[in-house]
Amino acid sequence: MNEKKQTLALASDHGGYWMKDFIAFKLRDAGYEVKDFGNNSGESVDYPDFIHPLAHAIDEGKFERGIIVCGSGNGAQITANKYLNVRAGLCWNLEQTKLIRMHNNANVMSLPGRYVTFDEAWKMVEVFLNTAFAGGRHERRVEKIRQIIK
Ligand code: RB5
Repeated sequence: MNEKKQTLALASDHGGYWMKDFIAFKLRDAGYEVKDFGNNSGESVDYPDFIHPLAHAIDEGKFERGIIVCGSGNGAQITANKYLNVRAGLCWNLEQTKLIRMHNNANVMSLPGRYVTFDEAWKMVEVFLNTAFAGGRHERRVEKIRQIIK
């Protein structure tokens, strides 16, 4: 029996649907709870309709971490980063994934469902979940992200 772990929030559009479902399956198998914000088919949808609810929930502190997937990873990431308490990083490889945690304290990872394999995606998810924020000088930089000029 797996030990109970945190609940992870997942969302995708049609370009990331199959990958999201694969990741949800792997996460549950690894003992995580999953909150799935959809979408739930390969039919064409608009990614903001699914990413906004996830990002809003993270922004409000309902979930600590989220995983979002669209075709390129860009639309999902751009949408999620509209929220002040969301730091979504685009993940193309293991090194990038490590860095969004270590340097940016990202609480959301965005995957390009059409450009990485399921196996690569899962390895990146493991890195995202198991890499700590490095703190130090990065603490100051991450804090400055919030200080937009008005
Ligand atoms: C959908 O075709 C595609 O535009 C979307 O998945 C994503 O790549 C947007 O950034």
